[in-house]
Amino acid sequence: MRKKLYAMLLISSMVFCACSTKQETVRTDTLLREWQFTQDTTENPVWVNVTIPHDWAISGPFDRANDLQEVIVVQNGEKEPTWKTGRSGGLPWMGKGHYRTRVAVKKDKFYTLVFDGAMSHADVYVNGEEMVYWPYGYNTFDCYILPDLIQNDSVDIDVYLENKPQQSRWYPGAGLYRNVHLVETDPIHIPTFGILVRTPKVSKEYAQVTIEVDVQDGVDEISAQNTEYSVQTDILFNGKVVASTEGRQSVAEVLNPQLWTPEDPNLYIARTRVLRDKEILDEKETRFGIRSLSYTPENGFQLNGETRKFKGVCNHHDLGPLGAAVHKDALRHQITMLKNMGCDAIRTSHNMPAPELVELCDEMGMMMMIEPFDVWNWGKTENDYSVEFKDWWKADISNMVKHYRNNACVMLWSSGNEVWNQVLPDGISIVTELQDLFHQLDPTRPVTNGMDQAMHVIHNGFGAAVELPGLNYRTGRYEEAYENLPQKMILGSETASTVSSRGVYKIPAVLKDFAIYEDYQSSGYDVEYCPWSGLPEQDFQLQDDYNWTLGQFVWTGFDYLGEPSPYDTDAWPSHSSYFGIIDLASLPKDRYWLYRSQWNKEDATLHVLPHWNWEEGDLVPVFCYTSYPNAELFVNGKSYGKLRFATPEETELMAKGLPVNGYGSQEARVSQMPKVGDFVPPVWGSAPRPELLPRYRLMWFDVPFEAGEITVVAYDEKGKEMARESVKTAGEPDHLEVIWANEEENPEELCYMTVKVVDKDGNLCPKANNLILYEGDGFVAAANGDAVCLDSFVEPQMHAFAGQCTFIIRKGTEGSFRMME
Ligand code: GAL
Repeated sequence: MRKKLYAMLLISSMVFCACSTKQETVRTDTLLREWQFTQDTTENPVWVNVTIPHDWAISGPFDRANDLQEVIVVQNGEKEPTWKTGRSGGLPWMGKGHYRTRVAVKKDKFYTLVFDGAMSHADVYVNGEEMVYWPYGYNTFDCYILPDLIQNDSVDIDVYLENKPQQSRWYPGAGLYRNVHLVETDPIHIPTFGILVRTPKVSKEYAQVTIEVDVQDGVDEISAQNTEYSVQTDILFNGKVVASTEGRQSVAEVLNPQLWTPEDPNLYIARTRVLRDKEILDEKETRFGIRSLSYTPENGFQLNGETRKFKGVCNHHDLGPLGAAVHKDALRHQITMLKNMGCDAIRTSHNMPAPELVELCDEMGMMMMIEPFDVWNWGKTENDYSVEFKDWWKADISNMVKHYRNNACVMLWSSGNEVWNQVLPDGISIVTELQDLFHQLDPTRPVTNGMDQAMHVIHNGFGAAVELPGLNYRTGRYEEAYENLPQKMILGSETASTVSSRGVYKIPAVLKDFAIYEDYQSSGYDVEYCPWSGLPEQDFQLQDDYNWTLGQFVWTGFDYLGEPSPYDTDAWPSHSSYFGIIDLASLPKDRYWLYRSQWNKEDATLHVLPHWNWEEGDLVPVFCYTSYPNAELFVNGKSYGKLRFATPEETELMAKGLPVNGYGSQEARVSQMPKVGDFVPPVWGSAPRPELLPRYRLMWFDVPFEAGEITVVAYDEKGKEMARESVKTAGEPDHLEVIWANEEENPEELCYMTVKVVDKDGNLCPKANNLILYEGDGFVAAANGDAVCLDSFVEPQMHAFAGQCTFIIRKGTEGSFRMME
């Protein structure tokens, strides 16, 4: 095949500045970007220069031996330990790392170092003196540079980190993977979490805003009675002052407030000044939103008095080929894709998010559930947070809540995920203690808990003790939970966990639990799941049919590194998840359009699958995910019939095996699908209900393949054609098509380039796995979404997977892509 040079790129001219300083009048917040790094523990280590955020493990190499875990995964139905390969990503994140830098300081100023997160067990030294130790790698913490240490015009900062094997059930990342801030103020200053803004009264006409401010002199708190210093706060909207108050605790009134919603994320700024007479000693801006929240059995979850249900996803913190290193452009791209799907909420599972994510959710309109822990005092892996829980939970919850309680997008907290204490005698007392601390710090939001032991917690008191009960999976037990729990509301805190590989279709399309194939992929027909999990339809149905459900958070929005179920037991090289609605290369799987068809009420959805490159004689299922009421399938112009969605009543008849008039071929195939209980321990109560599928997807089974074109034509209720969508049989790979996927998001630095292998007519070659080279400047990372592929994320070449891959290129640079055979 010819080698082709294609698509010269000049990605705009804006060049990113490596160090950004936010200059306010009397305080500066400088990101410390340039550090030296070593993992060499000898006396004269070799240092390398790095720019943070930095994840020391993402460059690999992948190895089965990296954090190989011999464990029992109860959810897999295991009773004996087995070898879990790739469970935490197969990358070298374990071990020690040391970062150092030198920063300029002034004797008459006061300095605070703020770490947005450091993975992990961070020990921070300034001029050789230990300033702070913080074990949990996800939380924000700070420390002062004690004035005595400032003898010259600079200080040396050393950060020692250590990651232990079996510290995590997923890829944690490694190093200074989030930002480090040097905050310079007057000694009289507002400390890191020193401002609390609340909106206790909210209506369309009027809002009350309360502001509480802490002031310090160096490391000492200044009492509110001290009259030497005064505090003033202005409330600004679109740069204009709309209200002003005075005092350490004050109340402002905002007339005709512009409320915050996901659809219209209006934000205000509280600009707080500390003054001595007229001299401004400190000035700090706090962004907040005006909105009200309530959760009641009568009205469910209400935002600004309007009932809505969470259409949410859970996400881990890694950003695919960028690893755990935080990048605002990558997060913006994630949120943009999710919003386009109709998603309005993210659960940060199971740890504290990067501040950049919370800021973007505020700005872009994405609600959040923030969850700090995957364990309490009983571990899931040997060196996980259970080792620290007893000594650190208070500090960890405090920093997290203080950090994010001013953010408009945060709708609720979660005290933990599937903690073993659900079924242990100390569970109720721990959950109560944790909730009390959350409420002390923030009485305005409820606290949920992701419970998976439904059969126990519904009856053992734990579920009743959780303020807002959240069920992980267990769709078959929702009604039992509703009937027995006093709260009379159920949140789908974690749902679905359907597994699929983008663009890989297994025929026939049959519902399967823990399906294992030789290629280590899962079917793109969205019909496969794990023993504890299910299919999207189960949760759609619960949310649609019961007003006591509060919405759901699907596991997961994006694929992540580690936890490659169903290929987690001795199935190397599988090393990343199959659960994502969107793959590790940020390319949507078909499921994206299934959720979009239900969730996005603004834009119509019409999507047909699979690809149309099969063997003569194959009987191919064709599925259509659409927001239109019905559609007709044509193969090379010949109709295979028009289908509509089944009504709730019809699905009940199908469940009983009764005939449904005029329902066509779906009914026949649905009745052949394995039934609940065939393969799932019924006690878990999560098994899919096959009869629900026709309520949410249109399915033509056993369509004889003939090369050419399939088309779905969508109609409205009156039979008028509304849209059509086609897939053609593709020929040989001929050239590349390159699409700048995040161009409209106007990224500051990172451009996501989707590279497609296409035939001479521009049709995607759905099985192409050609090696793609990037030749030019500004290469950052590449991925293809194949959980089995061991291509390095940091080399400018990547195999296509199902015809596509993604390159992340620095903005303002030039290069081209080349396709190899
Ligand atoms: C849940 C768990 C998640 C993830 C998921 C996979 O039980 O909370 O962290 O492991 O299963 O389906």
